[in-house]
Amino acid sequence: MPEPSPCSQVVVRPSGPLRGVVRAGGAKNSALKLMAACLLAEGRFVLRNVPRITDVGLMAEVLRAMGAEVVRQEPSGPDDPGDLVVTVPAALEPVAPMSLVAKMRASIVVLGPLLARCGWAVVGMPGGDDFGERPIDLHLEGLAAMGARFETAEGGGVAGTVPGRRLQGTTIRLAYPSHTVTDNLLMAATLAEGTTVIENAAREPEVQDLAAFLEAMGAEVRGAGTSRVVVRGARALRGASHRVVPDRVVTATFLAAVGMAGGEVRVADGRLAHMEMLVRKLRAMGLEVEGDAEGIWAAGRRRLRSVDVSTLPYPGVATDYKPFIVAMLSVAEGVGIVTENLFSGRFRYVEELRRMGADVRIEGHHAVVRGVPRLQGARVRATDLRAGAALVLAGLVAEGQTVVLDAQHVDRGYDDLVGKLRSLGAPVWREHPEGELAVAEAGW
Ligand code: EPU
Repeated sequence: MPEPSPCSQVVVRPSGPLRGVVRAGGAKNSALKLMAACLLAEGRFVLRNVPRITDVGLMAEVLRAMGAEVVRQEPSGPDDPGDLVVTVPAALEPVAPMSLVAKMRASIVVLGPLLARCGWAVVGMPGGDDFGERPIDLHLEGLAAMGARFETAEGGGVAGTVPGRRLQGTTIRLAYPSHTVTDNLLMAATLAEGTTVIENAAREPEVQDLAAFLEAMGAEVRGAGTSRVVVRGARALRGASHRVVPDRVVTATFLAAVGMAGGEVRVADGRLAHMEMLVRKLRAMGLEVEGDAEGIWAAGRRRLRSVDVSTLPYPGVATDYKPFIVAMLSVAEGVGIVTENLFSGRFRYVEELRRMGADVRIEGHHAVVRGVPRLQGARVRATDLRAGAALVLAGLVAEGQTVVLDAQHVDRGYDDLVGKLRSLGAPVWREHPEGELAVAEAGW
């Protein structure tokens, strides 16, 4: 195992009950798409509540490579990350460099806006495995139905052109309600000729957030948040402002933390309506959860009980919650079965949890989790963003010290997870704070 850089470690000690108020901040999976949507028009865009995470920094690099200017304004207060101001010129270079795209799959969402705006685009793609495990076929099929033609670009990736330069509205029925495919097609449709209907569309709150931004830009979108989205194409859109919807996965992280460590926590910007199925499961596990117009309150007063959970597209329990659910079940009373229905590789962190004494068995796409009273601190590795956060949570209920290596993955999607948990009383810190400084200094 290669030694990670010291700045990417999070150290966790056993925690008492958590108490206090935190904010989730803006949703990564909305902010990245809103940034891509800016490419649809010349003008100035102001995005509020964009989290200070490294994926936003990468998307900013992608936009800059095409000629846009992206600037983070000074925060106006402790709860404000500072507005992100994106200025898009009349002429774009619609080429997303492989070096950037390879670091973040979500950059595929620039393809739709670029084809719609420029009539051609080249988007580098990490090769082999990524195409296999998380293919982009539905993105390409949908855009092809709107008239785009694709070939393999030099050096890998896809090169797309639109004969006649303007995409054509049509009816697209998705084989699967993919989140980013819906985003990509929705954005492309706003500049297409005629009406586009996306059937079996993803219904995530972030899709609705994107539609609201597109409408502020002058687009006509109906049905976002339902399985049938209808878009009437416009000749041109304009600059706009928007506040990013709160992050439901970050909110879930804090709810899971209070479930495991106990205590009473309020997520000041949590939206219960965006996570009802998860909250139902959390309540069945014995966590008290209440939501109001302003946030979500949760209290953990006893050891959690096991439940069975299956991940499903929204409004089902999201695959992104699964590492927290497995972490919770690993210290709950009884046996719980977690079934993954979306991403095959999303059980890799289980091996790390086992190093901490968790009793988890993988059978196909099911994880069978037999709760133990307490985990053991260990040196574990964050295999991805959500897994890294789940390991930090596991450390809160482990004897001794837990060190989460490769914690830079966590920075991809969490704006200061460590600081926020510490503000709730959790004994967690960066062993070398240069990592956090690097993120802050980069302006994200
Ligand atoms: N799929 C295809 N072909 C495609 C696209 C997707 O077969 O062209 C399949 C995938 O292989 C997968 C399923 O469809 O089996 C679901 O993928 P989906 O496209 O819905 O996921 P995504 O849009 O790539 C987004 C989030 C993920 C989140 C999933 C599921 C973004 C940037 N990413 O991914 O978030 O897990 O939806 O809700 O929005 C994360 O935040 O860490 C993260 C991975």
